[in-house]
Amino acid sequence: MARTLDSPGVLVVDFGGQYAHLIARRIRELGVYSEIVAATSLDALGEALSRAAGVVLSGGPGSVWESRHDEAAAMVLQLGKPVLGICYGHQLLAKVLGGEVGRSPLPEFGPTEVEVLDHGILLNGLPSRFKVWMSHYDAVLRPPREAKVLARTPGSPVAAMELWGRVFGVQWHPEVRHSQYGREVLDNWLSLVGAPRTWRPGDMLSELVESVKKEVGDALAVAAVSGGVDSTVAALIAKKAIGGRLHPVFIDHGLHPEGEVERVVKLLSRLGLEPVMVDAGEEFLAALEGVGDPEEKRRVVGRVYAEVLERAARDIGAEYLVQGTIYPDVIESGARPGADTIKTHHNVGGLPKDLRLKLVEPLRYFYKDEVRLLAEKLGLPRELIWKQPVPGPGLAVRVEGPITREKLRIVRRADAIVREEVDAAGLGGKLWQYFAVLTASMATGVRGDSRSYGYVVAVRAVESVDAMTAKPAELPWWLLERIARRITSEIPEVVRVVYDITSKPPSTIEWE
Ligand code: XMP
Repeated sequence: MARTLDSPGVLVVDFGGQYAHLIARRIRELGVYSEIVAATSLDALGEALSRAAGVVLSGGPGSVWESRHDEAAAMVLQLGKPVLGICYGHQLLAKVLGGEVGRSPLPEFGPTEVEVLDHGILLNGLPSRFKVWMSHYDAVLRPPREAKVLARTPGSPVAAMELWGRVFGVQWHPEVRHSQYGREVLDNWLSLVGAPRTWRPGDMLSELVESVKKEVGDALAVAAVSGGVDSTVAALIAKKAIGGRLHPVFIDHGLHPEGEVERVVKLLSRLGLEPVMVDAGEEFLAALEGVGDPEEKRRVVGRVYAEVLERAARDIGAEYLVQGTIYPDVIESGARPGADTIKTHHNVGGLPKDLRLKLVEPLRYFYKDEVRLLAEKLGLPRELIWKQPVPGPGLAVRVEGPITREKLRIVRRADAIVREEVDAAGLGGKLWQYFAVLTASMATGVRGDSRSYGYVVAVRAVESVDAMTAKPAELPWWLLERIARRITSEIPEVVRVVYDITSKPPSTIEWE
């Protein structure tokens, strides 16, 4: 992986759990640059470790007894740098250092009180009892011989430990907001790491501009713009770097929400990024014909998108492609063999290996909240910075099963009604996303005197801070009824509207 940023930082070793990104973000919030590496490739781990000032061993599914991560943990310990094991990482450290890990006498999930026995370096300045967030079946039952036990809970006799003033483990999740003093625990550990606290993403604009300038040289570049905050920030950085040699390209895949294309073009033009418009709706529709599997849809959209973009770049004579890929996209699309692929994100997952354009991704090391800081520095309007995300494959993943022209028309209209009503109720700003899905179900209804048989639309509105978890929004009843009434009366093909009340997990935000 080519690095464009070089500050020594903390490496988070990911064993396939859900928390690695959150840990890296919290560390960055404390001013230290942090990256993630999957534990499955020892070569990649070795290379990454050479750049680390400190290492976090993060969570993982399953038990440390079934895992084959001992070698990775041993490599990390051999470095002689500060180490922090969290949850599974804590148990792994205990196991490889000779402690005992086994089924906890009391598996703990959710808020749990921890009792401090010895503050050590890690818990310095904290009260003797506080609430933390737990999620574990196994526990460290007996510490390694040289370890000092710092804390315990009813289900974790060794809830925190310290070895040689350098290696630490905590059973709880300090990175989760529900854990009291989580920030202080990470901060205490970071003071030991001693990496410079210089990570201030909002101040990095000129550095990023310079690096794009160097990368592209005198060549021409296209920027794939979608109207989202990531691609707009990436394009603006590139525009500052190479001026008129940047050609923003907007591909209309025909899968955008109602009015989106016009809104986006107006906004981009206002920002000096007037795009070349490519109308490829027919091409996408043809390629998606009969494709029902959600992951296959993403791959098809990704493939056709890349083909259309390549053609546009060739017409322009561009050698480079500027993309708004951000850090979770880089890590999530296949770079984590330990974890299940939950959804392929088309902007990375679908790009063909033999793409004839050289990629420029100024934001590939940034998290979304960091991109928003850059966006603020660039003076982007608030409505763009906080705009609800539209998935790259657009409405294709909001029609269950194969899409047709009719289904697209229906979901687009239903979606517009949901937006209009939620916005009119003044609730838009409080929600992460709100949209309509055309389900694959059919149901019976009655219109006038006759029975009808038609589509079922699901309304989804969620609150979330980062899309990793989400809860259904408690929309007022009158609003839901109003939405249902409008959808069924304005779209005669729809006979029933349901509201999705599931959280993520176990659901995802999108239906596909
Ligand atoms: P899920 O459905 O996985 O979605 O809970 C999490 C967030 O990601 C968005 N999403 C996508 N974005 N391409 C994208 O660019 C995709 O294929 C894709 N699938 C889901 C989703 O809208 C939500 O904000």
